[in-house]
Amino acid sequence: MPAETYSDHPILPLADGWHAVALSRDLPAGAPFPVILGGREIVIWRAESGAVRAWVDRCPHRGMRLSLGFVRGDTLSCLYHGWRYRGEGGGCDRIPAHPDLVPPKTITVERYGAAEVAGLVWVRMGEGADAPAVADAGLDGAMSVTIDAPAESVKAILTLPDDMEAEVQPVLAARCRVHVTAKRDCLKAAIAFAEALRRRFETSDLIAAE
Ligand code: FES
Repeated sequence: MPAETYSDHPILPLADGWHAVALSRDLPAGAPFPVILGGREIVIWRAESGAVRAWVDRCPHRGMRLSLGFVRGDTLSCLYHGWRYRGEGGGCDRIPAHPDLVPPKTITVERYGAAEVAGLVWVRMGEGADAPAVADAGLDGAMSVTIDAPAESVKAILTLPDDMEAEVQPVLAARCRVHVTAKRDCLKAAIAFAEALRRRFETSDLIAAE
């Protein structure tokens, strides 16, 4: 079943390849984190080993959001009936109501490629390279902000200082998230930049002009 089937939102077309969805520092081990990428509901999570996973945010059993579940080692368990899924491959390896049952191999979560580069967590749509094609220039995550405007509107006015980078993630048709990264000694300025960008859309007629 296509991943889009599980979303409560209209699905936007997205280019194949890697899309930034969060700052690495906002994803500690053991805390599943829900994100929306072009209407697709995705749970990103970090195993205790540090590996990052990106899955469709729906349990294959009865559709509970896996972002409400819990991480143990390199597994993510659903909060509802406790079905447990392996980080590697996404297969179910435990059904608490039937502890002696070996779950069929067909019970598997829908997965996306996931990677961490340049202080960001990336999710791959469709086919594409094994890793995001961005240089890891020693940048750290500064701040992510949500802006109620289309991603293209934000990209059109985004002018970055030399020591910062930003990735704009389409969330819904009229909402996006901007992830700002910077050199370590510029993080305060980058946070101020992200806040100012968000305020600019809150207080101006940039949205109405689109
Ligand atoms: S809905 Fe997830 S285990 Fe039942």
